[in-house]
Amino acid sequence: MYSAILSAYFAVHLLLGHCRGDLTIQVPEVPVVAIFGKDVTLNCSFSTNLNFSLGDLSVIWQLTETRQMVHKYSLRQDQQADSFVNRTALFPDELAKGNASLLLRHVRIEDEGSFTCFVRIEEHLSAPIKLQLAGMAP
Ligand SMILES: *[C@@H]1O[C@H](CO)[C@@H](O)[C@H](O)[C@H]1NC(C)=O
Ligand SMILES: *[C@@H]1O[C@H](CO)[C@@H](O)[C@H](O)[C@H]1NC(C)=O
Ligand SMILES: *[C@@H]1O[C@H](CO)[C@@H](O)[C@H](O)[C@H]1NC(C)=O
Ligand SMILES: *[C@@H]1O[C@H](CO)[C@@H](O)[C@H](O)[C@H]1NC(C)=O
Repeated sequence: MYSAILSAYFAVHLLLGHCRGDLTIQVPEVPVVAIFGKDVTLNCSFSTNLNFSLGDLSVIWQLTETRQMVHKYSLRQDQQADSFVNRTALFPDELAKGNASLLLRHVRIEDEGSFTCFVRIEEHLSAPIKLQLAGMAP
C-alpha cells in the first residue's frame, strides 16, 4: 500500500482594512499523513472576537507552491477546482465554530504536498438604490 504524506504548510491571509476584530488561525505543526485511496482531514481552525455571519466568511484552500485553488467557500457557496471535483468538502456545520478544515477524499499520489488555508472575515455591506426613469418632457 502506498502511503502518501500530505505535509501541511499553512498561512493566514487577512484582507487588511476589512477585518475589524482579531483573527487567529491554527493548523497542525506536524505533517498530516494520509493513506493512498483513503480520506484525510486537513485541520485548520480559526478564532475571532467578531460575531460574524457565514456570508462574511471566506475560506480558501490552495496548493501552496502553485497557489492553485483547491476549494473555495465564499458568500455561502462552495467551489472546487476541476482536478479536485467531488473530492473536497468543508464541514458546513463546523464553519461557524471556527473549523475550516478540508476533507480530501480518495487521496491520490499527486495530492502529496503542501496546502495553504486562507481565512477571511469581511463585512459585506449593501444598500439598495432606486432607479427612476425621468418622464419625457411634454
Ligand atoms: C473539524 O470538524 C471535523 C468534522 O466534525 C472534525 O473531524 C475535525 O477534527 C474538526 N477539526 C478541528 C480542528 O476541530
Ligand atoms: C484535527 O483536529 C482534531 C480536533 O482538534 C484532532 O482530534 C485531530 O487529531 C486533528 N487531526 C490532525 C491530523 O491533526
Ligand atoms: C456577540 O454576540 C453576543 C451575543 O449576542 C453579545 O453578547 C456580544 O456582545 C457580541 N459581541 C460583539 C463583539 O459584538
Ligand atoms: C461528480 O459528482 C456528480 C454528482 O454525483 C457526478 O454527476 C459527476 O459525474 C461527478 N464528477 C466526477 C469527475 O466524478
